[in-house]
Amino acid sequence: MSDQNIIELKDVEKRFGSFVAVSDLTLSLKQGEFFSLLGPSGCGKTTALRIIAGFQDHEKGKITIDGVPMKDIPANKRPTNMVFQSYAIFPHLTVFNNVAFGLRKSRLSKAELDQRVNEALDMVELTGMGGRKADELSGGQRQRVALARALVMQPKVLLLDEPLSALDKNLREAMQLELRRLQQSIGITFVMVTHDQYEAMTMSDRIGVMFEGKLMQVDRPEVLYAQPCNREVAAFIGGMNFVPAELIKEDGDQLQIKAAGFGTLNIDVNPNVRERGSALLIGVRPEQLEIAATKPEGYDSTIEGTIANVAFYGESVHYYVEVEGLTDVVSVAVPNYFHTVDYKSGDKVWLGLQNSSIIDLGKG
Ligand SMILES: Nc1ncnc2c1ncn2[C@@H]1O[C@H](COP(=O)(O)OP(=O)(O)OP(=O)(O)O)[C@@H](O)[C@H]1O
Ligand SMILES: [Mg+2]
Repeated sequence: MSDQNIIELKDVEKRFGSFVAVSDLTLSLKQGEFFSLLGPSGCGKTTALRIIAGFQDHEKGKITIDGVPMKDIPANKRPTNMVFQSYAIFPHLTVFNNVAFGLRKSRLSKAELDQRVNEALDMVELTGMGGRKADELSGGQRQRVALARALVMQPKVLLLDEPLSALDKNLREAMQLELRRLQQSIGITFVMVTHDQYEAMTMSDRIGVMFEGKLMQVDRPEVLYAQPCNREVAAFIGGMNFVPAELIKEDGDQLQIKAAGFGTLNIDVNPNVRERGSALLIGVRPEQLEIAATKPEGYDSTIEGTIANVAFYGESVHYYVEVEGLTDVVSVAVPNYFHTVDYKSGDKVWLGLQNSSIIDLGKG
């Protein structure tokens, strides 16, 4: 990734009638960055991508790609290419002809065209498959044809709308790694739309979390996980226990708070929080809690509870614990490497928590 910006969006807004589908979208993407737009269904992800591609007009704002304002530049003249959610390859054409489709207009010699197509097929590991009919391919192979068809045009920016959503879980995970490897090896900027938090986290340099047409937080995956700016972002990325609290004292980058169930705690200020009052919300990730049959030593805070439910996830076990003073059960995730922890509903347990693993979520 270079320090140079390739895409700049400034105050972009799109309305359908009176409905605002995308509002105040301001974002700069670096050359070579893998960026994901993540958010629930209907939040405006596809619309944002289509605006960048030039398939969708917009009322307000400015888009610049590689220093050139895109205002009067139609989709087919932009240095972008898009892979659609329904990847729409032509079933009756061969793999080669599907990939060559966009190049036919470019007056390349046959040798040049062959070379470009074969290079694109190599990139997506479909070497030698050019002669196959597209309808003789598996879902994952078709997805790669769609990618090759976009890559062969040598875009500066590749836009991908839920590119893996049609694939089953195993193939999808394999393709996530492949796509990331491919992006790093060719070094072009990828902007991917997804509503799958794990997909966004495993693949992206940065993620923009979008709700109701607005970008709520843009950060690296680790930062989104550790310091989400509010309850909505925290709940959308990973599991989280939310606990209401009162602010006792604010002192530089430390907060002293009184949290329901947990009592008085000293926690770090989350720099991403925008609003804070006397009532605040804290978050604790399920894997950050210790669970023990007797009061655990060495924790900043320990509380007693009763197991309400147990869920087995294979790689981990989740215990749902009732704690006095809390309305919601507390979820605790225990990795399943040695099965030394084995509680049943009704068991009395202790929970241990370090101040450093408590997330300040401001007013929530
Ligand atoms: N052409 C259109 N006319 C009217 N409303 C539209 C149009 N296109 C999209 N919308 C609305 O704009 C909002 C955003 O749509 P968009 O397709 O961008 O969502 P999305 O985040 O991609 O959702 P999904 O994850 O379901 O694909 C939705 O409420 C949708 O109904
Ligand atoms: Mg969409």
